[in-house]
Amino acid sequence: MSKNIVIQNVKSAITQSPCWETWPRATRIYSDLVCDHSKDSYYLRAHGLKPNLIRLIGDCKDSRLLDIGSGNGWLLDALRPKEGYACDIVEQPDISPKWNFEIQDVRSLSYADNFFDVVAGSLLLIWMKELDIALQQMYRVTKPGGKMVISLVHPYFYRTGEPNKNGDFVIGSNLSTPFKIEKLKIGGIAGPLTYFYRPFPDYINNCIKVGFRIVEIVDWFIDMADYEQKVKVGMNSNILRTGKVPLYSFIACEKG
Ligand SMILES: C[S@@+](CC[C@H](N)C(=O)[O-])C[C@H]1O[C@@H](n2cnc3c(N)ncnc32)[C@H](O)[C@@H]1O
Repeated sequence: MSKNIVIQNVKSAITQSPCWETWPRATRIYSDLVCDHSKDSYYLRAHGLKPNLIRLIGDCKDSRLLDIGSGNGWLLDALRPKEGYACDIVEQPDISPKWNFEIQDVRSLSYADNFFDVVAGSLLLIWMKELDIALQQMYRVTKPGGKMVISLVHPYFYRTGEPNKNGDFVIGSNLSTPFKIEKLKIGGIAGPLTYFYRPFPDYINNCIKVGFRIVEIVDWFIDMADYEQKVKVGMNSNILRTGKVPLYSFIACEKG
């Protein structure tokens, strides 16, 4: 099959996908949120996502790295790999021309098998039902011996309840079985999106099932003393937070 036909198939799969309608509207707002220093979303990215992803991915000055669901390409900007590839279902006009950006759906990537030293997907897999297909694709494009690193909002503590005044996280959802949250808005404004809850072992077991070896799992907890200090000096936040439960999780794998 020629590359053109593959890309056309990818594009038509994307335009038939339910997220096609919602992400283009949400992605610009999301990008503005995480770039605005006065916002809670910026804080979470700078203190939670970024340092953990950078540590787990490690030195990539000699690597070919793909960031899937890249948004504006901030991860590539931070990591500066030798060859940086990025893809997203939404056009990203702000992404640096240094990176090879393409519109692609993680569920039907058109990159060659075993092409990348590192594949990253930050806050990506939580938005789709087909976790198994997405991970199969991520495995396929990773080189033997290569790495795959994902970040998630922590499945058990993202919109499943909320902190009370003592900072105890009170869960109201039934965590024993997958469910979806529709019409979700990140930071109260970027959306509406559909979030797919699944028990944490579903992520781990799907990584193993497609062939990855899990190298490290990390939970990140917000440092409430630091966070409250930032709120005191003007950071915008109307979301209740607690440092007693993890906010993000990270899974780092290797392709054997
Ligand atoms: C919450 S944002 C995260 C952006 C960036 N990775 C980060 O960590 O800040 C999720 C991104 O995944 C993209 N996305 C959603 N579904 C996707 C899919 N099926 N394939 C590729 N990208 C997707 C969205 O367009 C959006 O840019």
